[in-house]
Amino acid sequence: METQKVTVSDILKMKGKRKITMLTAYDYPTAVLVDKAGIDMILVGDSLANVVLGLKSTTEVGMIEMLHHAKAVTRAVSRAMVAGDMPYESYQVNPEDCVENARRFIEEAKCDCVKLEWFDQCLEVTRKIIKAGIPVIGHIGLTPQTADKLGGFKVQGKDAEAAKRLIQQAEDLAKLGCFAIVLECVPDKIAQIITEKIKIPTIGIGAGKYTDGQVLVLHDALGLFDRYTPKFVKKYINLSPLILAALEEYKKDVIEGKYPGPEHSFSIKEEELKKL
Ligand code: KIV
Repeated sequence: METQKVTVSDILKMKGKRKITMLTAYDYPTAVLVDKAGIDMILVGDSLANVVLGLKSTTEVGMIEMLHHAKAVTRAVSRAMVAGDMPYESYQVNPEDCVENARRFIEEAKCDCVKLEWFDQCLEVTRKIIKAGIPVIGHIGLTPQTADKLGGFKVQGKDAEAAKRLIQQAEDLAKLGCFAIVLECVPDKIAQIITEKIKIPTIGIGAGKYTDGQVLVLHDALGLFDRYTPKFVKKYINLSPLILAALEEYKKDVIEGKYPGPEHSFSIKEEELKKL
């Protein structure tokens, strides 16, 4: 039976009915598993920089890396909606290139939509991309690409003035035609107010339980990234020590001559060997 792809209209209809699930993925094997698990949306996040490429900041990945990984993910997925995360250089450094870069996520990498973080010219850029017919997910609160302007990696919207700004940003993005908004690191009650005020789904990360959906970075959820772990992360499994133990066992087997065994080797008939 053919699997039905999750569409923008499916995501919109989920608001108020059932929670939306989203995880990041950056490569083929993990995207296969995330899709198989029935997760609704996969974000090829620019967190690629930190959790896969070992870079310090998400601003260090560009279109080449993002498209390369997005292509691997879309090859793997048959059901989930795949969102390409627009990297810093693709719409903040040169806002005039935003539509062309968003189009590359859709046409070259076969993503279903793009996500972009709030910044000074966010509304202008979002309007242009939506006008070009590309579905957009907004992202407000802690926006890592411009974290230095927000006072670092801190919870956002903690006083009434800052919370009002976030509510306004969410309302403006919804009015422009975004079909969902990621709320990152905001107090749960502010996320609740935003979720109740706007008609499109909110997807939280460090935003409490009242949002319409949740997203986590896959490597955080699987215990594959140890450099730092934000408070909001729940590790569903701690894979790093399990993988390390397997690698150590492999090393031991090779050194002790236990691997490969006959079951892993290819044979040749005795008479053929004798001819040598
Ligand atoms: O890049 C990313 O993984 C993200 C999520 C944290 C939402 O933007």
